Amino acid sequence: MNATQERWGSRRAFILAVTGAAVGLGNIWRFPYITGENGGAAFLLLYVAFVLLLGLPVMMAEILVGRAGRRSPMQSLGYLATQAGASRHWRWLGLFGAFTVFCILSFYSVVSGWFIEFFVASVNGNFVGLGAAEVAAGFETFLADPRRMTFTHTLFLFMTMTVVAAGVSKGLERLNNLLMPLLYLLLLLLAGYAATTEGFGPALVWLFRPDFAAVTPLVFVHAMGHAFFTLAVGACALMAYGAYMPERQSLPHAVGAVAVLDVGVALLAGIAIFSVVFTQGMDPAEGPGLMFVTLPIAFAELPWGALWLSLFFLLLLLATWTSSINLAEPMVANLQGRGMGRGRAAAAVGISVWVMGLLSVFSFSYLAEWRPLFNMTAFDLITTIPTEIFLPLGGLLIAVFAAWIMPQELAKAALGTGETGFRLWQVVVRWISIPLVVLVLVAGLV
Ligand code: PHE
Repeated sequence: MNATQERWGSRRAFILAVTGAAVGLGNIWRFPYITGENGGAAFLLLYVAFVLLLGLPVMMAEILVGRAGRRSPMQSLGYLATQAGASRHWRWLGLFGAFTVFCILSFYSVVSGWFIEFFVASVNGNFVGLGAAEVAAGFETFLADPRRMTFTHTLFLFMTMTVVAAGVSKGLERLNNLLMPLLYLLLLLLAGYAATTEGFGPALVWLFRPDFAAVTPLVFVHAMGHAFFTLAVGACALMAYGAYMPERQSLPHAVGAVAVLDVGVALLAGIAIFSVVFTQGMDPAEGPGLMFVTLPIAFAELPWGALWLSLFFLLLLLATWTSSINLAEPMVANLQGRGMGRGRAAAAVGISVWVMGLLSVFSFSYLAEWRPLFNMTAFDLITTIPTEIFLPLGGLLIAVFAAWIMPQELAKAALGTGETGFRLWQVVVRWISIPLVVLVLVAGLV
């Protein structure tokens, strides 16, 4: 296939699209509970360090491969490898990325379905006057009902695949444009309210005063995986977006903006959620249900609480929607690159992801007792292994490809900076990011 001529409408559109991919479940759902499970501030510090040392340089590597190749991830990798006289087998890295996003999208759609459920429940005023225990019990009842969960999973995946089938929609640009400011506004409102509660002080201490006593090599693995996940790096998904990047744009500037927005959302969400946790005397290590139990309580305290809560879940839903569209894109692009029509490719991807998603749905009911590995349920495994092992592994290979294998003049042109900027990027990726991923994976897993 020849290089694509399609481009994002403007530099701003590209930044918004990547931000849309980055900001999602990772910031508002995963960040608080994983931080809660890993002891708070020390984890946060590690995660931010990984964003800077690994996330950003590898994100640039990933996008520049797509931009230099201007094809689907598999084809870009194959094409650039051939240009450099290296093995065409590098294209299989694109397939590995597709497998990673396949696994991620399968639970992503299920958890986003919970947002639909909560949105509807809050519009109906179902949370009015409930305490922490009642909200938690309601959530448990929902999880144990496979039919309701399958329904919202189906609905969400359908929403995603229709947009993907229609092509990388320019409509997204407008959506992203509106979404980010609104999301920030509500998060600020929530954090502002949190500042008036008793739990605010303890929440800040918990989030920002690190205690390194509890940090094990495995905590490093969790923090690294989360850095990749939240930035959407390591699965060739951003590579697919890089293919449509405008000709003249500096990649470091673009990803810098994305990272600031992304970490900002997580911090605000963390402050709001942990303030509720400490005000209510809840356990920070509550797990994946954390935000679903805390947010309804937080909003209930505000004037017009039900209204804010509904709006908030609606915004979250839109944020996960833009991320899941990005998750689906590389799979559809790869199939399309092999000659399948876009609509068919989207249908095939949608159906397979839907089936895989049932595993997550059922692991709260029929399969609740099924612990195939490490005494974890299917849901725990699918939310952990692809994020914490496949993404870093994919990111590692992408980094090796971009900084060692592909023609370096093409890499330089695609980074869109001068000579110095390129050298700096190359040195960081070659001598910091690549060894660091290897070190953390080996130390944590062996
Ligand atoms: N970054 C997204 C989030 O935080 C998840 C994601 C991972 C999207 C990998 C694309 C690729 O929710």
